[in-house]
Amino acid sequence: MSFAKRMSNIQASATVAAFARAGELKRQGVDLISLVAGEPDFDTPEHIQDAGIEAIRTGKTKYTNPASGIPELKDAICNKFQQDNNLSYAPQQIIVTCGAKQTIFDAIVVLIDEGDEVVIPAPYWTSYADQVRLMGGTPVIVPTAPDRNFCMTARQLQDAISSRTKMVMLNSPCNPTGGVYSHSDLQAIADVIAWAGIYVITDEIYEKLLYDGAQHISIASLIPELMNKTLTVNGVSKAYAMTGWRVGYGAGPQDLIANMIKVQSQETTNTCSISQYAALEALNGPQGCVETMRQAFEKRRNQIVEGLNNLPGFQCRTPQGAFYAFPDVTKLFGASSSWGKIESDIDLCNFLLDEARVACVPGAGFGTSGYLRFSYAASSQDIQEALDRIQTALTQLN
Ligand SMILES: Cc1ncc(COP(=O)(O)O)c(C=O)c1O
Repeated sequence: MSFAKRMSNIQASATVAAFARAGELKRQGVDLISLVAGEPDFDTPEHIQDAGIEAIRTGKTKYTNPASGIPELKDAICNKFQQDNNLSYAPQQIIVTCGAKQTIFDAIVVLIDEGDEVVIPAPYWTSYADQVRLMGGTPVIVPTAPDRNFCMTARQLQDAISSRTKMVMLNSPCNPTGGVYSHSDLQAIADVIAWAGIYVITDEIYEKLLYDGAQHISIASLIPELMNKTLTVNGVSKAYAMTGWRVGYGAGPQDLIANMIKVQSQETTNTCSISQYAALEALNGPQGCVETMRQAFEKRRNQIVEGLNNLPGFQCRTPQGAFYAFPDVTKLFGASSSWGKIESDIDLCNFLLDEARVACVPGAGFGTSGYLRFSYAASSQDIQEALDRIQTALTQLN
């Protein structure tokens, strides 16, 4: 078959591919511990499940009107932005999509022309760079430093901006590093963005998963004029254990949102009607479930970071947000066993899959080789078992 040229510019998502590989091995009966999935292992809280069931039973099973999100949900999203993020949006500035992934993609479709540059700090969530490439844009990757919690500095951003820069992508708390931008760092970045007059997509999907007193700040709240240049992205997947329901949303300048709605009208029409009613309950209903899950993640974070740091060759910073540990494993490069020689994070990931039956994702998938990403959105027992298995497998290496 002859495929469009743009297909040679992109790869399948590294995380989705690793998730599929782990799933396939499990289906084959392999006793595998998978710390791949970027999704809470908890069930969707019961009151949210009930809202979905109620939506089915009361006939909320048609195309939604408007397709860009039911009015009640848009109102709830506006309230959430006001209360949590000090951002004032009107309903016509909101789009509800099939996951935050689609919000981001729709914005890239609307904003990025062939040759436009998009600044992306690395490590980055796998989809950003490929979505930009798919639309003919050029990702300009800015490597960040571990001792700055993998956060890009204002100076780095300024140096990366050229006359072709259209946009910058921010993600705090970050997948895969768990890094959270401080108020002062974000303010300095906001100043550069305002000075350059470029757009910013700020992916805030992990905002509720913060530890050690870290605070989440929405960049659009820092400088009034940024409201016209910012798409603030969020969703219910991570905070409410609703990954499979596929509800994300974005808020931004009305003309940007109107164009994104136009794109969505030609691709998915609307997000699943049932899921929209469940998301409405997630945002308007009791919020205790969010804190309960956050506390569980915090315990598991402490467990996995300590465990990883006790493994030979692993150095893991303590992440301040999200639910990923991202250890540096470069000290293991050059080691070998009857399995073969470990020369990269991809090799180590394969070694752990084969010899420890533990699945994780290589840092290369996030634009930063030398690291592995472990999701700790898994039970404490699985985390402990994974650590024990890795410890045993590493004894093979010389
Ligand atoms: C940083 C980041 N943004 C967006 C998403 C997509 O979330 P959704 O399930 O809402 O599409 C993910 C999911 O892994 C993510 O890690």
